[in-house]
Amino acid sequence: MARIGQPLARIDGPAKVTGAALFPADEPVARPAYAFLATSPIAKGRVARVDAAAVRALPGVLDVLTHANVGGEVKPPGGPGGQGGTTTTLESDRVWHDGQIVAVVVAETYEIARDAARRLKIDYAPEPPAVGFGSPGATSEPAQGLEGDKPPSAGDAQSAFANAPVKVDARYSTPTQHHNAMELFSTTCVWRGDQLTVYEPSQFVGGVQHGLAAQLGLPPEKVRCVSRFVGGGFGGKGGLTARTAWIAIAARRLGRPVKLVATRDQGFTIATYRAETRHRLRLAAGRDGRLQALIHEADSVTSRPSRYNANGLSTTARLYACPNVTTEGRITHADRNTPGFMRAPPETPFMFPLECAMDELAAELGMDPVELRRINDTDKDPTGPRRFTSRSLMRCFDEAARAFGWSRRDPKPGAMRDGEWLIGWGCASAAYSANIGAGACRLRLTPDGKARIQMAAHELGTGSYTILALTAADRLGLRVEDIAVEIGDSALPPAGLSAGSTHASTICNVLAKACEEVRARLAEAAAAANSGPLAGQDPARLALAEGALRAPDGRSEPVADAIRRIGGMVEVYTENLPVGAPPDGLQTLHNGGIAMSRGSSREDGLAFAFGAQFVEVRVHERTREIRTPRAVGAFAAGRIVNPTTARSQYMGGMIWGLASALHEATEIDKRLGRYYNKDFAEYLIPVNADVDQVEVIFVPEEDRQVNPLGMKGIGEIGIVGMNAAVANAVWHATGRRVRDLPIRVEQLL
Ligand code: MOS
Repeated sequence: MARIGQPLARIDGPAKVTGAALFPADEPVARPAYAFLATSPIAKGRVARVDAAAVRALPGVLDVLTHANVGGEVKPPGGPGGQGGTTTTLESDRVWHDGQIVAVVVAETYEIARDAARRLKIDYAPEPPAVGFGSPGATSEPAQGLEGDKPPSAGDAQSAFANAPVKVDARYSTPTQHHNAMELFSTTCVWRGDQLTVYEPSQFVGGVQHGLAAQLGLPPEKVRCVSRFVGGGFGGKGGLTARTAWIAIAARRLGRPVKLVATRDQGFTIATYRAETRHRLRLAAGRDGRLQALIHEADSVTSRPSRYNANGLSTTARLYACPNVTTEGRITHADRNTPGFMRAPPETPFMFPLECAMDELAAELGMDPVELRRINDTDKDPTGPRRFTSRSLMRCFDEAARAFGWSRRDPKPGAMRDGEWLIGWGCASAAYSANIGAGACRLRLTPDGKARIQMAAHELGTGSYTILALTAADRLGLRVEDIAVEIGDSALPPAGLSAGSTHASTICNVLAKACEEVRARLAEAAAAANSGPLAGQDPARLALAEGALRAPDGRSEPVADAIRRIGGMVEVYTENLPVGAPPDGLQTLHNGGIAMSRGSSREDGLAFAFGAQFVEVRVHERTREIRTPRAVGAFAAGRIVNPTTARSQYMGGMIWGLASALHEATEIDKRLGRYYNKDFAEYLIPVNADVDQVEVIFVPEEDRQVNPLGMKGIGEIGIVGMNAAVANAVWHATGRRVRDLPIRVEQLL
């Protein structure tokens, strides 16, 4: 019998490793035609002329879509993450960014479509683009929070900073980065009459369904999105992008299914990415180390039409006790594609300056960086009256420090070495808002003792199938192998989006609620029966365990018998509106919107997961080559449903954090506004040789307030502190503060 909290291997593992798992582009469709995108080589201007005649005449070419022949058929995409209203459409001749879709070629084969798209003759009227910060023509405005909230503040930070005895005042930057999930962006559209089915890897099938229906002017029930497995999402597959509607139109024009699998390099410009950011961070403290002022000013790049910003200030303002806090966010509009969510979208770029500045402050004070965090630990929001629902930051530090061997650190930079290698040890805090969404599910039990779960949840490699089966097994007293899990289809009860570290809490909490309804129904029938082993018992005290309905006195009845008593089957449909979600959240959920309770903004308390991360770097004294032989992360995120998949989540986040610190940057040509490392040869990601030991420590934490199962979410926190921990370790090894990511050899020469 599986229990919540016990390790369980992925139940979908065999399907994945044998190839039986159907990723959206693998779904069999009859006689598909193939689409290939033609994308803009200019970042700003107009499409002057498309000459499609020669391409249309090529054998096997079926259609060419451009703004001229289909531009009026689609409304711009809406959808979550500020990805709406933007930039990669055929709606007009306007070019907003490099790599924008300007035409879709459809042909009998992929190869013909690709060849034709490359032969398509398109003339442009280019204009000089503004590529980012400081470019002539870029414009800047104040940023709005995710929910339009005001930047958090307290006291008078400017004068507190001016008068404090110990200060840090530094500027930091983080680069453009792209998700680069292993699975490419794909869309396959099939019409049956006026009914459209879209096979597309998605973190939010309900968002695709409703968003696409709105774009095409269809009732939502005419659109279905199927996404049974996703080969990595990381935020990049959370929103509806322009390609989907064009493939739907192409399939309708042709009267035949159309399949698109975009190339790796197209993925850099037809979807979202992590925005480039710049920060000025000021910290001031007394000689005792207590913070007196925190001023965090941040700017991030976005596209011309989008006001997307990551809003990390709502976390950095609240992490430490500090009486005087000022935050200010700005966005800079440039001729770029619209950025969006990428693993811990706010915290990865925004905690970097804070956690580096804390390390710099510790050095100024001559204090251990862990002790500086301890002195400034708090159980209360420094910018408001709320308390944390639970906070285990220092327990994480203590456990990770012990495992890492931190007490053996010589605090002097450059003091530790091994032959020609300078050794640096650094640490940082991690924090992530504990969020949960509204959700619905259908649960059925049959007399053979089997259960079936249905909900429009998502499996991104995160382990959703497994934690659903595990939760149901725990609550229903069934074996995992007797539970069937159906997810990844917008025709199933809506379960919101898989993002913001919400999904496990969302889907497990609504499922647990459904299980309780099933238990109550069986128990009430068994207790009310005239005969039978449980007749006359208190139904509230009958529990489902090990295949039976059981009373405290030891009497029991097999589940199968209990099910037969109420007609041979029990099925419940359950909805859950979490504490802190908007009152109309269930309606929003059914309309394909985002209905979420955010740990940073719910009224009854601040809910955050915490972690502490320690990294050892080795920098070669002459070549300045940087290695990271080991990293330790300790995390407290409430209840862990499945330690096996949770460990992978944390570890994946930590490895990605190493990448964010040392490898990843999307390089942009400053004259042309064009990304020039759009492939795995030149967009650097860590390989096995870059990652030696990654140790994950689970810090047990019980939080009864955050949600009924006490889950805080773990999808993102693993990445959060890593870039600062690495930068701090590099300083410890070399005495050099590198405040601009990624840290590469040339910055240490
Ligand atoms: Mo995640 S960046 O919230 O999909």
